[in-house]
Amino acid sequence: MTEMQVARSIGDLRALLAPLRAESSIGFVPTMGALHDGHLSLVALARDAAEVCVMSIFVNPLQFGPTEDLARYPRPLDADLELARGAGVDVVFLPSVDEMYPEGATTTVVPGPVADVLEGAHRPGHLAGVATVVAKLFNIVDPDVAIFGQKDAQQVAVIKAMVRDLDFEVRIEVGPTIREPDGLAMSSRNRYLDIEQRQRALALYEALQAGEASLRAGGSPEDAEHQMHEVFGAAGLETDYAAAVDPLDLSSPATGDVLLVVAARVGSTRLIDNLLVKASQRGTS
Ligand code: PAJ
Repeated sequence: MTEMQVARSIGDLRALLAPLRAESSIGFVPTMGALHDGHLSLVALARDAAEVCVMSIFVNPLQFGPTEDLARYPRPLDADLELARGAGVDVVFLPSVDEMYPEGATTTVVPGPVADVLEGAHRPGHLAGVATVVAKLFNIVDPDVAIFGQKDAQQVAVIKAMVRDLDFEVRIEVGPTIREPDGLAMSSRNRYLDIEQRQRALALYEALQAGEASLRAGGSPEDAEHQMHEVFGAAGLETDYAAAVDPLDLSSPATGDVLLVVAARVGSTRLIDNLLVKASQRGTS
C-alpha cells in the first residue's frame, strides 16, 4: 500500500482489510496514541513480521479507574497520524468510544489470576479493561501477529493468557522497552512531567538498576526489593510497588529468572517500568 488509510468505523476497517487479507499477512500494533519512539519501534517489528501494518489509536475508557487520567490523557491526533505515516503504518483504526462501546454493550473479558497482583492490585479493573478492548480489537482487525511492548510486562502476560485460554488465532510478539538516553522508559504519560519531576522520574530506572546490581552480586529477590525501595526512599517518591517476581506469572517469590517491576508516583503522574534479570546473570558480578 502507498497512502496510509484511516478507518473510523469497524465496518470501514473490515472493508479496507478484506481484500488485503487474501494475499497479505496482517501485523497489528494497538495503542492509545500520544505516540513516541516506543510505539514506533513496535511498528518496525510489525513491518518485519507481516506485510500490512495496522495500528489502532483508541483511548480506552474501560481501562481507566474513576479517579484516573482518562479526561486529560493526551490526544495529539494530527501529530500521531504524521508519526504513524512516517513509520510506515498502512492502516490506522481510529474508532470513537461509541463505536467501540455502543449503548447496551455489557460483555467483558475477565482475566485470570495473573491480573490480580501488581497493577491489578493497584488499579482494580484496569487489566480487565485492557483484555476486553484487546479482544475486541483482535476480532475487528483479525491480525496474524500483534506486537506489544515489554514496558507493560503484566499486560503482555494477561494478553498471552487470554490468547491461549480463548483460542485467539494470533501470534503475540513482544518488543523491548525503548528508553530516553538517561534511562527513563518512554511513556505517553511522561508528557505530564515538569522539568523537576522529569528528573525525579529517573528514580524508577535507578531503582531497577540497583535491584539488578543486587541480583548480579548474588543477592536474593528480597535483597533486590530492599535495594529498590532504598532508591525510591532517597528520591522521595511514593511507590505502589517495587517487587522481584517470576517473569511468566508475576508471582513471588521468584526463582531463576527475575522480573524487577516498579510503579511510582511523581506528583500526580503514575509511572511503571521493569527489567528482566536472567538466572544466568545472577551472582556473576
Ligand atoms: P499504550 O500505552 O499506548 O501502549 C501501546 C503499546 O506500546 C503497548 O504494547 C506498550 O507496551 C507499548 N509501549 C509503551 N511504551 C513503550 C516503550 N517505552 N518501549 C516499547 N514499547 C512501549 O498499552 C496500551 O497503550 C493499551 O493498554 C492498549 C494495549 C492499546 C489497550 O488499550
